[in-house]
Amino acid sequence: MSRKKIIAGNWKMNTTVEEAAALAKDVAAVVGSVSDVDVAVCPPYVNLMAVAEAIKGSNVKLGAQDVHWEAKGAFTGKVSCAMLKSIGVTYVIIGHSEQRQYFGETNETVNKKTKAALAASLLPIVCVGETLDERNGGKMDAVIDAQVRGGFEGISAADAAKCVVAYEPVWAIGTGVTATSAQANEAHIFIRKILTELFGKETADTIRIQYGGSMKPDNAKELLSMSDVDGGLIGGAALKASDFAGIVQPK
Ligand code: 13P
Repeated sequence: MSRKKIIAGNWKMNTTVEEAAALAKDVAAVVGSVSDVDVAVCPPYVNLMAVAEAIKGSNVKLGAQDVHWEAKGAFTGKVSCAMLKSIGVTYVIIGHSEQRQYFGETNETVNKKTKAALAASLLPIVCVGETLDERNGGKMDAVIDAQVRGGFEGISAADAAKCVVAYEPVWAIGTGVTATSAQANEAHIFIRKILTELFGKETADTIRIQYGGSMKPDNAKELLSMSDVDGGLIGGAALKASDFAGIVQPK
């Protein structure tokens, strides 16, 4: 089964509008004509429009870092799917571990957001992953199982096929400690097994599973060579166009 790789930069809470536009221009210059890998950048909300402009005419797609599930109304601070759609957003990261850790994201809210995004024709990047304590305590499989089943509850196979899953072990995010390629692949195979139970093999085989957590130009090639690692969700290394390019096209 060959799945087109997808590399997305999660800029997190970094970049002013000038910095975002400049970085996006640089990204478009170095990887904007790549067509054998899907490439996306996910700047902070306030920089989405400037980045949309900067990547116009390139193959780089725009992603957001979160979304609210309600369509509109009294939800101070929140942004809807229709708002994202109206400015050219393609992907939306949902359930990032930082959202789960610091902002009360649960499997249930991940599910609501995923359904809302799909209904609005946004492509969800659904994040899952265990903490170090969970891994060391032998709870890794149960945690990931609950995150995948909870996140995808009530979603059809046809809709699931539009989603990307990002496996981001919390202990590898921003720490410089990467999961080994074997650890990553093992987790991805486990996630695909759950997706197979939920949606059948044909659909599960088409869903791309990204790895995220200290992915860099010098470890990208090995990680991306694994059977079930279908791309990367990149934090720190996405903030420098040359590093990001070195992951999109690793040497
Ligand atoms: P780092 O690449 O900085 O470890 O971040 C990974 C991540 O959280 C991407 O969403």
